[in-house]
Amino acid sequence: MKTYLITGGAGFIGSNFIHYMFNKYKEEIFIINIDNLTYAGNLNNLKNIENLNNYKFIKGDICDAENLSKIFKTYDIEYVVNFAAESHVDRSIEDPSIFVKTNILGTQVLIEIAKKYWKMKNGFKEGKKYIQISTDEVYGSLGEDGYFTEKTLIDPHSPYSSSKASADLIVKAYYDTYRMPINITRCSNNYGPYQFPEKLIPLIINNCIKNRDIPIYGDGKNVRDWLYVEDHCAAIDLVINEGAVGEIYNIGGNNEKQNIEIVKYIIYALKHKGLDVEEALIRYVEDRKGHDRRYAIDSTKIREELRFNPSVNFNDGMLRTIEWYLNNKDWLGKIVNGDYMNYYKKFYGR
Ligand code: NAD
Ligand code: TYD
Repeated sequence: MKTYLITGGAGFIGSNFIHYMFNKYKEEIFIINIDNLTYAGNLNNLKNIENLNNYKFIKGDICDAENLSKIFKTYDIEYVVNFAAESHVDRSIEDPSIFVKTNILGTQVLIEIAKKYWKMKNGFKEGKKYIQISTDEVYGSLGEDGYFTEKTLIDPHSPYSSSKASADLIVKAYYDTYRMPINITRCSNNYGPYQFPEKLIPLIINNCIKNRDIPIYGDGKNVRDWLYVEDHCAAIDLVINEGAVGEIYNIGGNNEKQNIEIVKYIIYALKHKGLDVEEALIRYVEDRKGHDRRYAIDSTKIREELRFNPSVNFNDGMLRTIEWYLNNKDWLGKIVNGDYMNYYKKFYGR
């Protein structure tokens, strides 16, 4: 039975990954989820698996070396998958400090503890691997043409993407210096169930449900390459099992959309479901500072080397996502309470 240490497993992608893994491997795996439950961490994302015998939740911080040491002492961990991060660009523009702490320092503390418990005199114990979940945002911004490959130079612009790029460099250094078994994945924008409604797609869905204005930054023509979260999880599982040690893998959806297209799509889909919502809710607001214009991933490497192909097309993924939020208004209701509204007013009220 393989033991996985998942960090940030109460967040959007981490919780989807835990569901994906239990659906696929059932009792064959043991998962430990360590998460310090920031505003983005939500144990309601994991309700239906929380009592499984082969699952354990530990409330803890990836910056806390002592606590991580205890976990490594107690369990024989095969894989560390590091999702834990501060993940929202707008928050990083307001206050970069926690991004530096969690994303950079936290990654270094975590990988150092893994090294300490996995390293032998000559090399590392068999079958161990550390996976760093990174982002295409480390590559910076594209013009109208071209794609990010794994060879594209990193050129991050926001405090968020800079902190993720720094973490990638630290992880790479553990491979270059100690030959520690690692992989880094760099994925494009994800969407799907359990995403915190500060990010574009769930924010729009929530605002439509509440009949609230829909804020679009700048001219609305910034482009993102959208991937359904389950496909990201499948790609990570492939990288864990088959990724060549030391390698970086880009993961993308081949689904480039302008933000305005996404907004209009959601309004159209919700109208079809009988919601009274109109494009008149759209408000063009002040642009994000340093707003990256376009992200687009070249996934040739993971497609050819690991035979990865996204299985959920954009229409199906969006309809599934919209349906999920409509069917889980309780989940949404518990989040969009006082703290969320304070955040919302602070960012969008001006
Ligand atoms: P999220 O913000 O939804 O979740 C982050 C989780 O990490 C939360 O549960 C939070 O409580 C936890 N966390 C934060 N600080 C922690 C700490 N110090 N110790 C332990 N836990 C901590 O983020 P997400 O969207 O699920 O992203 C997960 C990872 O994937 C991040 O590393 C992000 O950079 C990367 N990523 C995200 C996307 C995307 O579109 N969302 C795309 C590519 C890569
Ligand atoms: P976001 O979901 O924050 O992801 P990221 O910035 O990491 O790609 O934003 C996606 C795009 O949507 C980005 O170009 C910014 C834009 N956006 C808006 O126009 N309005 C909003 O209220 C938000 C949250 C994002």
